[in-house]
Amino acid sequence: MPTWHSLPTEMKIAVVQLLPIDDVKRFSKASQGMYTLCLPITFKYVKLNNVEAMQAFLAHVPTAFYHYVHRLEVFTMGSLPTNAAPAEKAISPRTDALVSLLRDCTNLRQLSLKISGGLATHVIPYFSRLDNLKQLSISNEDSERDAPISERLVVSIAASVPNLEELTLDRISRSTLHAPDLINVYPLIPLVAGDDNIDDHPELGSALCLPSLLRIPSLKKLTIRDTHLGDSLWLTTPPACHLEAIDLSGCSYETDDVNSLFVERIISAIGPTVVEASLSTAILGAPFARPSSTPFKRLRKLTISPYFPIESVVDTMTNLSGSPIDTISVQCFADDVADIRSAVKDFLSLRIESGLEFHQNLTQINVSVAACDMKPGNGAEVIGIA
Ligand SMILES: *[C@@H]1O[C@H](CO)[C@@H](O)[C@H](O)[C@H]1NC(C)=O
Ligand SMILES: *[C@@H]1O[C@H](CO)[C@@H](O)[C@H](O)[C@H]1NC(C)=O
Ligand SMILES: *[C@@H]1O[C@H](CO)[C@@H](O)[C@H](O)[C@H]1NC(C)=O
Repeated sequence: MPTWHSLPTEMKIAVVQLLPIDDVKRFSKASQGMYTLCLPITFKYVKLNNVEAMQAFLAHVPTAFYHYVHRLEVFTMGSLPTNAAPAEKAISPRTDALVSLLRDCTNLRQLSLKISGGLATHVIPYFSRLDNLKQLSISNEDSERDAPISERLVVSIAASVPNLEELTLDRISRSTLHAPDLINVYPLIPLVAGDDNIDDHPELGSALCLPSLLRIPSLKKLTIRDTHLGDSLWLTTPPACHLEAIDLSGCSYETDDVNSLFVERIISAIGPTVVEASLSTAILGAPFARPSSTPFKRLRKLTISPYFPIESVVDTMTNLSGSPIDTISVQCFADDVADIRSAVKDFLSLRIESGLEFHQNLTQINVSVAACDMKPGNGAEVIGIA
């Protein structure tokens, strides 16, 4: 009988890869050899919930192990001083901790940054070395008025990642440089000033505004939430990417109608390649209802987010009848289930009345209850359509 120790290393690794992470941790304590064998799996996914955890990781984990990290989640909450405003690079202990991580985590595939206390600009160059990074998420966990994150900073970061495919941005602030039309105009949108020190990007130059994200050729999936989408350059920036999935929601400072207008403008520019879309704003424009004129020529999967105005669900699903949608997924909060059910019923009656051509590709409507933090909860219900 061959013993565990006589197995070739490749087979041992194959076994360890099948174990749940807690078992890997137990297994790795069995011997020095097992510890070494388990290292790539032990450090594959690292989650650091605050600045203190970041500092403990930096102090105790040898940098030689950092290249095992494929997926890193960081939350820069904690008692350290807030990063200084963009113009002053001097005080930025949180960003410094992040830089120390990124410098040696060169093998990252997925990176999620939940930023508290701002982010200083000297982090930017470290992103250009992350060749394997495909998914990047940056969210501001503080208020835009206290510790904003500038669009110039995130666009520069995203455009620096060599092969970025999926980008998620949450609560990013417009820059006074790119939004002069919003200065001292009602409603007052929080803007960032003093971010003109961010260097020009080799491809984008000084145009570090949100629409320039469309010039990242590798980008396939773009999610932007709780961010002002009113830049008119969204309409005229020629997309260099083929976006397959989008999830766009407006900002809380504008009305539903204005947010709808902004999102529709963006869709008119990037819609033709999109297969999956998640919406938080109604679609009002007439062109969407006709196959010949809809910008969503290939849309197959539509998700209605929990923040979508319920009274517009039927109209929007009707308005989108120019797209070959086959699955509609409606996410709602628990309190809204009854209203959503009756909206779906109204839509189904309308579909029967409207005849065969109307949403002819639709096979499934999936209603699910979302937890308050936007993650889909339990209780998904699938309504099949014959
Ligand atoms: C789109 O929805 C709006 C209401 O939100 C409605 O007034 C309009 O007629 C709809 N357009 C089409 C083309 O169905
Ligand atoms: C939608 O349905 C029509 C008619 O059944 C079909 O010709 C077309 O290919 C379908 N479109 C897609 C994208 O599946
Ligand atoms: C229904 O939607 C939820 C949330 O988007 C998803 O988790 C679930 O897999 C979907 N179910 C089906 C059968 O598509």
